[in-house]
Amino acid sequence: MKIIVVGGGGREHAIIKKLKENINVEKIYALPGNGGIAADAECVPIGAKDIDNIVDFAINNKIDFAVVAPDDPLVLGAVDALNAAGIKCFGPTADAAIIEGSKVFSKNLMKKYGIPTAAYEVFDSADKALEYVENAPMPAVIKADGLALGKGVIIAKTVDEARGAVNSIMNDKIFGKSGNSIVIEEFLEGPEISVLAFTDGKTIKPMISSMDHKRALDGDEGLNTGGMGTIAPNPYYTEKVAEECMNKIFLPTVEAMNAENRTFKGCLYFGLMLTADGPKVIEYNCRFGDPETQVVLPLLKSDLLDIMLAVADSRLDEVPVEFSGESACCVILASKGYPVKYESGFELTLPRTDHKTEYFIAGAKLEDGKLYSAGGRVLGVTAVAPTLPEAVSRAYDATDKVGFSNGFCRRDIGKRALKVIEEAN
Ligand code: AMP
Ligand code: GLY
Repeated sequence: MKIIVVGGGGREHAIIKKLKENINVEKIYALPGNGGIAADAECVPIGAKDIDNIVDFAINNKIDFAVVAPDDPLVLGAVDALNAAGIKCFGPTADAAIIEGSKVFSKNLMKKYGIPTAAYEVFDSADKALEYVENAPMPAVIKADGLALGKGVIIAKTVDEARGAVNSIMNDKIFGKSGNSIVIEEFLEGPEISVLAFTDGKTIKPMISSMDHKRALDGDEGLNTGGMGTIAPNPYYTEKVAEECMNKIFLPTVEAMNAENRTFKGCLYFGLMLTADGPKVIEYNCRFGDPETQVVLPLLKSDLLDIMLAVADSRLDEVPVEFSGESACCVILASKGYPVKYESGFELTLPRTDHKTEYFIAGAKLEDGKLYSAGGRVLGVTAVAPTLPEAVSRAYDATDKVGFSNGFCRRDIGKRALKVIEEAN
């Protein structure tokens, strides 16, 4: 089987490595991939949003199956275009990807179908939003409607900050058209949990839970990033919480999308907050999370390609989705200065690891057989072990052996989770 994977980050590297475990996989192309992914797939210089060229490549190379991983091409209709050309895909069509593509859509969906989420108001005029924030409870969470590279959420502690956020999103258009409408919502508190789930619109099979670490610096200080590290499973996600999520959030979401004639097929990502009133949805994503995928897929015991094909063929009920029972930790090495300003072009040296430790390369280029940093988040180092303390310690042991003079990482990935586990014992 010949496969294309659209995208070029650490998440795509993890997907590709897992797909390769299936003996029916003849060839994987990454569009565009990166210098590190080149060790596991043939990288083709076609951008993830270049849908016309993606479709042409798939046709010309007789591709049997396409996995579209990032949000932009999904929201732009890459799966619709590939399907129209007769190519089977893993990923939602554009009318379902809107669950991530428009926060106004997802909030209204949750309200209509009684799915627990933060209370909110929608505004499409800056004047109305500015009037509203004068008397709104603070902190308030201000979200641009559309995609904004994960940066479209501003938590305003004061009315002054809220005014500033409304102005920069709606008047200064810092996120472009994504800020034509905004959602202003209630500030929720509690631990966050990420749950990725396979669904074909009839069946939903959640994967093992995980915890992201979004801030740039230790102790959850510094700016929001794409994610500086992850652990799985998330100790806050007890069996009781999982059952509540299934009944009040996961199944109702799948049914709501069906009722709206927007059947979702692919990986649905639930960003949850465990509040005093139970789990609530912070956000939906229409895809695998990054770097959640880098801890979830290494723990998947079942065959990823079989699951993805079953989702595409609407027979997810027939295939197992099982996890190993171990734990995983992924530490992200980023370029110094990320997420603001950073330099690229520093050599990376990656010592050989045991089979329970893997590198997932996010931003690197290959020149004369050597890898050089090329991006903010450069690589993730994932270790799998029988327990979380072992996984964390092995991930850091391996991270400390990577040669990357311009790199930095958080030193506290998994610390909060380890404390929860300790307190429970
Ligand atoms: P998002 O880009 O939607 O994942 O939001 C980024 C981060 O902002 C989330 O991971 C949360 O930490 C935080 N956040 C979003 N919505 C809320 C909310 N209603 N209350 C508190 N924190 C929030
Ligand atoms: N790790 C958060 C995301 O993928 O959006």
